[in-house]
Amino acid sequence: MATRPLFQRFPELEAHAPWQPLADLPTPVQQLPGTQHGWIKRDDLTHAAYGGNKVRKLEFVVAEMQAKKVRHAFTFGATGTNAGVAAALMCKQAGVALTVYTFDQPDSPTVQRNQALMRAAGAKLVHKGTLLSTVLTFYLHPARLRRDAYFLFAGCSNPVGVLGYVNAALELAEQIAAGELPEPDVIVVPVGSNGTLAGLTVGLQLAGLKSRLVGVRVAASHLGPIATCTTGAVQQMVDQTTAFLRQHVPALRDLQVRAAPLNDAYFGDGYGVPTAAGLAAMARFADDFAIPLEATYTGKAAAAFLDELAAAQGPVLFWDTFNSRSTDALLQALQA
Ligand SMILES: Cc1ncc(COP(=O)(O)O)c(C=O)c1O
Repeated sequence: MATRPLFQRFPELEAHAPWQPLADLPTPVQQLPGTQHGWIKRDDLTHAAYGGNKVRKLEFVVAEMQAKKVRHAFTFGATGTNAGVAAALMCKQAGVALTVYTFDQPDSPTVQRNQALMRAAGAKLVHKGTLLSTVLTFYLHPARLRRDAYFLFAGCSNPVGVLGYVNAALELAEQIAAGELPEPDVIVVPVGSNGTLAGLTVGLQLAGLKSRLVGVRVAASHLGPIATCTTGAVQQMVDQTTAFLRQHVPALRDLQVRAAPLNDAYFGDGYGVPTAAGLAAMARFADDFAIPLEATYTGKAAAAFLDELAAAQGPVLFWDTFNSRSTDALLQALQA
């Protein structure tokens, strides 16, 4: 049976971490053409129909839903949530109904397309307007009293979802060991709901990799007084994950992991508001590497990556988290 580096390395976890194969892994690593030190991890190709970073998390999340015999899942995100699309597709496949509560973000073709995809996959979309109203609906939902309901945090970033990115770091280490790429000096990744960065932070340490991890913040740092996308919020998710690992893996009894400070310099005027540097980075990726990015997450992170690369003496890796499969084909298949 297909397995994952996480379970090969820590077989004890099989009894405690729900998992089912959904993603096409490992994703390729490639040197970026025309660069001396630029590399990319192609998580845009995690699935034949719809790639991106969510599929790795959903391998654990959907398995947990099935173990708990969940019939209805609830999540939330911006109107064009990529996580909502991935969750809608995987929930449809698993026979779980999905409701997505949404909050405003600047409109764009990606936003419109994602709305169409979620609807076509059978998700119920309920627009709440502000982030505050969305979050209150999610946390105070009456279905929280039901045993067959599952409340999935934004970005599919819940404690089991994060394991998908612990595994991803171990996967990268295997590719380095196999000589597919050199150990990166720097790894750059966008940060929204924190799960991708938290998982990579833990996984890189477990793998013994020394790469400096640059998390590029693309979401608002706070919701009122609550820290949502800050170094502290990432650290909390890291702590949750290390507590789980300490509990179930005797060899990790003393595991402690520190999250690196987030990079706030590429956020611009708001979540989903394009920046000039982000748009320029998207154009460079499209023209020079034939890789499509978007303006909310990967464009801003790619701007940081290109700046790191310009100053680099050694390998710099861009972790691509945005689906690059044709959504025309997907939409047609869903509507057929
Ligand atoms: C394309 C894309 N990249 C990056 C992220 C950020 O990942 P995370 O939410 O795990 O921080 C998201 C979602 O939130 C996303 O949709």
